[in-house]
Amino acid sequence: MELSLVRPDDWHLHLRDGDILQSVVSQSAKHFGRAIVMPNLRPPITTTAAAVAYREEILKALPPKSYFDPLMTLYLTDNTSPKEIKAARRSGVVYAVKLYPAGATTNSQDGVTDLFGRCLPVLEEMVEQNMPLLVHGEVTDPEVDVFDREKVFIDSTLRPLVQQLPRLKVVMEHVTTLDAVKFVESCAEGFVAATVTPQHLLLNRNALFKGGLQPHNYCLPVLKREIHRQAIVAAVTSGSKRFFLGTDSAPHERQKKECPCGCAGIYNAPVALALYAKVFEEAGALDKLEAFTSFNGPEFYGLPRNTSFITLRKKPWKVPDSYEFASGTIIPMFAGETLDWLPIVDS
Ligand code: NCD
Ligand code: ZN
Repeated sequence: MELSLVRPDDWHLHLRDGDILQSVVSQSAKHFGRAIVMPNLRPPITTTAAAVAYREEILKALPPKSYFDPLMTLYLTDNTSPKEIKAARRSGVVYAVKLYPAGATTNSQDGVTDLFGRCLPVLEEMVEQNMPLLVHGEVTDPEVDVFDREKVFIDSTLRPLVQQLPRLKVVMEHVTTLDAVKFVESCAEGFVAATVTPQHLLLNRNALFKGGLQPHNYCLPVLKREIHRQAIVAAVTSGSKRFFLGTDSAPHERQKKECPCGCAGIYNAPVALALYAKVFEEAGALDKLEAFTSFNGPEFYGLPRNTSFITLRKKPWKVPDSYEFASGTIIPMFAGETLDWLPIVDS
C-alpha cells in the first residue's frame, strides 16, 4: 500500500547552526519542501540582517540538488521595533515573528518580558504587514505548575491578545492541551491556527517516566495527560484547517539530554512523517493526512502548495538507535522502534 502526498512542509523546526545544522538539515530537506525555521540561536535572530545571514548558512549546508526552502523568522524581544518588521517584510525571506516569553524554553532568555507593555506597536505593525506571530504559549511564573502553564498562558495572554488585535495572524505553536484545542477552535479561522508535533499526538506524560526517567521524551511544552493527547488527535484528524504539521524537531547532543540538567527538545525530523501517518491511520483518518501535512499550512501563510510529491509506503522499518553525526550523537524520537510507514523520496 502506498500513499502519495503533495510534499509536506514543516511549520516549526529547529535547525540550529554550525556543526549541528550541517548534521541535521538534510533529514528535513529530504521530506519537506519548506520549513519555518525557529530563531532561538545563541545569539538569537532578532534582526532581518541576521535572518538573511542565517538563511545563507542553511542554504550552504544543504546537500546538492536540494530544493528545500527555509522560511525565516525573527525572535521578538522587548526592544524589537516596528521598523524591523517593515524591513523583515521587505526582505522577502522572513515569514513570521516568534514570541518566546522570557525563560519559557531553550534559548528564550532574551525573549519578551512584557508583551502588552513593550510590544504593542510592533504587533500593530505586524497586522499592517500581515506578518504572523508564532507563539510559544506558556507562562514562565515558577509558581505556576508546569503542566498548567499553557492553559494559564491562554487565559492571561493569548485570549486578551486576540481580542485586542483580531486581525493579527497568530499560530499557537506545538499545542499540548484540550484547552489549547478549544481555544484555537473558538477563534476566527484564518487568523488563529496551531502547529502540532508528533510527540504530542503519540505520547502522554507517562512516556517521561516509563521504566525510569526518559530524557529523550522531554520537550517543552512538556507532555500532558492522556485526555489532552486524545483531544489533539481528534482535532487534527477532524479535517479542521486550523491545525497543521510542525515537528518542533529540536536536536540536542546526547550528552546535553542525558545529564543532571538535561535540555528540552525531541529530535524527530527523520521519523516525523512516519509518525504522523501512524496517528492518522490509527484514527481511521488517513484521508485527512494530506491536508494536515501539505495544505493547511500554506493556506494559512498565504503561500502556494508544493508541486512535488512524496510517497509513504506501508513497509516496516527500524528507526536507528542513534545518529552518529560529525557533530556528535543525537538520539531520535522512537529510537530503535519499528514504524510502519516508510517515506520514499521521489526523484
Ligand atoms: C526547543 C529547542 O530545543 O530549541 N525545545 C523544545 O523542547 N521544544 C524550543 C521550543 O520550541 O520550546
Ligand atoms: Zn520549538
